[in-house]
Amino acid sequence: EDSELGDFDHYMLKEIFEQPRALENAMRGRFSQDGSSSKFGGLNIGARELRQVERIVFCGCGTAWHSCLVAEYLIEKYARIPVEVEYASEFRYRNAPLDKDTLIFVVSQSGETIDTLAALREAKRKGYRTLAINNVVGSTIARETDGGIYQHAGPEIGVASTKAFTSQLVLVSMVALHLGRLRDMSFSAGVSFVNTLRELPALVEKTLLVNDQLKEIANRYSQFDDCLFLGRQLMFPVALEGALKLKEISYVHAEGYPAAEMKHGPIALICEECPSVFLVSGGEIFQKTIANMQEVKARKGKVIAIATDDCVIPDGLVDELVVVPAVDDPALPIIMSIPLQLLSYHIAVARGCDVDKPRNLAKSVTVE
Ligand code: G6P
Repeated sequence: EDSELGDFDHYMLKEIFEQPRALENAMRGRFSQDGSSSKFGGLNIGARELRQVERIVFCGCGTAWHSCLVAEYLIEKYARIPVEVEYASEFRYRNAPLDKDTLIFVVSQSGETIDTLAALREAKRKGYRTLAINNVVGSTIARETDGGIYQHAGPEIGVASTKAFTSQLVLVSMVALHLGRLRDMSFSAGVSFVNTLRELPALVEKTLLVNDQLKEIANRYSQFDDCLFLGRQLMFPVALEGALKLKEISYVHAEGYPAAEMKHGPIALICEECPSVFLVSGGEIFQKTIANMQEVKARKGKVIAIATDDCVIPDGLVDELVVVPAVDDPALPIIMSIPLQLLSYHIAVARGCDVDKPRNLAKSVTVE
């Protein structure tokens, strides 16, 4: 098995570096000929029905649940359809009242997670139309869903999800585009969306060049037992995933929060031993995020900023600055995820953890 590792020390690192290819595979053959929309072979649901959908409920667990949160931001923004996100385990037992024009969308890398499968079955029992995003071909969820989209990310061996996560992100973007173009997104907005996604594999390749820098940062911060991940809007789910990754493989206590929520609790944790990782992009919330960083700095907290290259960060505000390419919203969560994956990977290595097989975790959880 180890011969497949090539030059990499761990599957997780190998899979992080496979992301440009995994994204290409997820997108291949899935853009419309006029370059303004996306298309999926296995949805089994026509344009007319999709236009009638009045609400989408996304369900998943763990990392897949974070993909669902990104879907919420993107679908509401680009397709203007109300979206709710549920932990599959909660949805299943909650018996939520839903309209008949509600679509249930489950996301699962393995397609075998019992909670997600049970949520899907519950939705089907009640007569809702179901769709799934899933990586493992022929999995139980893939067989039972009414329609679906395969990720084609290839096998993911590392327990902590990396390439399967970003491949889910590109697909939820493409779903937002597809639904948007069936409703009121213009042709030119569609073309620009498609072009943003097409540039992604090359931009992820470029972003991966931060690996050496992240290794150095990880070595400086690996002794801390607490860490905050903060981001606003589309970067909030990415912050949650950054925190989950660090917890999973480094056993460091980490929390992800919307940056503005920090002052309602987590700010009490800030001290020299609790660094904060900020996700920063340009645009309307940039100044607000800077203000949040100042609140951390004023309390002697160390700040690691992951910022797009259109941001000018004031001098003296950050202890570490990692610069990534500026991209439009549909690609932003993917680009921002790369440095966070590398940070947790290198911290786990520095702490001597078993990166690919972290304690107490399983790749696919088939018990409730
Ligand atoms: C487990 C794995 C996580 C994964 C989650 C959902 O907890 O350790 O990495 O995100 O299950 O898995 P799924 O296969 O449904 O995406």
